[in-house]
Amino acid sequence: MTDIAAKPSAKPEPGKGPVVQRLFGAIAQRYDLANHLFSGGLDFVWRRRAAKVVRAWAPKRVLDMATGSGDLALAITKKCPDAAVVGADFCQPILDIARRKGLTNLVQADALNLPFLNGEFDVLTVAFGLRNMENWERALSEFARVLRPGGHLLVLDFSVPRAPLRWLYRIYLHRIVPRLAGLLTGEKCAYEYLGASIEEFPQGDAMNRLIAVAGFDETRCQPLSAGIVSLYTARRI
Ligand SMILES: C[S@@+](CC[C@H](N)C(=O)[O-])C[C@H]1O[C@@H](n2cnc3c(N)ncnc32)[C@H](O)[C@@H]1O
Repeated sequence: MTDIAAKPSAKPEPGKGPVVQRLFGAIAQRYDLANHLFSGGLDFVWRRRAAKVVRAWAPKRVLDMATGSGDLALAITKKCPDAAVVGADFCQPILDIARRKGLTNLVQADALNLPFLNGEFDVLTVAFGLRNMENWERALSEFARVLRPGGHLLVLDFSVPRAPLRWLYRIYLHRIVPRLAGLLTGEKCAYEYLGASIEEFPQGDAMNRLIAVAGFDETRCQPLSAGIVSLYTARRI
């Protein structure tokens, strides 16, 4: 699998933010369709599961960071009708899609420098977003800052499943998805970046440690769909 390791690096690096911002702007119109197609509809299940976890925390104020086209924010709004759900993202074209889907509480903001007060939220969620950020540690400490003490963090993101599924998954992720997504969105490189970013993203205990260092305890990782996705939860100290 050496050819896969040679894919473009997706490690957080200075200057990555504007590239990511442009990339999501370019695929915004086809983002939902690509998600549903390439996950075989599992993305609905993952977001529903995340929203159910949030409901158990009975929050009053939720920030869905990197909300994108708003699917997780919408799922949370449905499961927690009494909560005020704010969606934030630094890419305006994709926020426009979220607005068209009925979300009104949307803010254009960079996760690394949030325009919110300390302790403003009970819950902060981030689905398939943290991996794309320029500095994971800084983003996580911003999340800790805007959460109240005792508040909850939920991170949902891709991970690499264990062998033997890992082999098939890598072929799908690095060979099939970029080709098909290239045809669908005209942005093949965006989906080559997706594969590289998943390979580089910490998972399991490594992610739990990163979260803990940012000011959280009770860190937990729950693999979903045989580990294609992991759901992390933690409590703000
Ligand atoms: C893969 S999409 C996920 C969208 C949505 N959460 C979902 O579940 O479909 C990643 C999103 O992260 C956003 N993003 C990446 N880095 C960001 C940052 N530093 N600040 C705010 N948003 C960011 C992108 O603009 C994009 O909308």
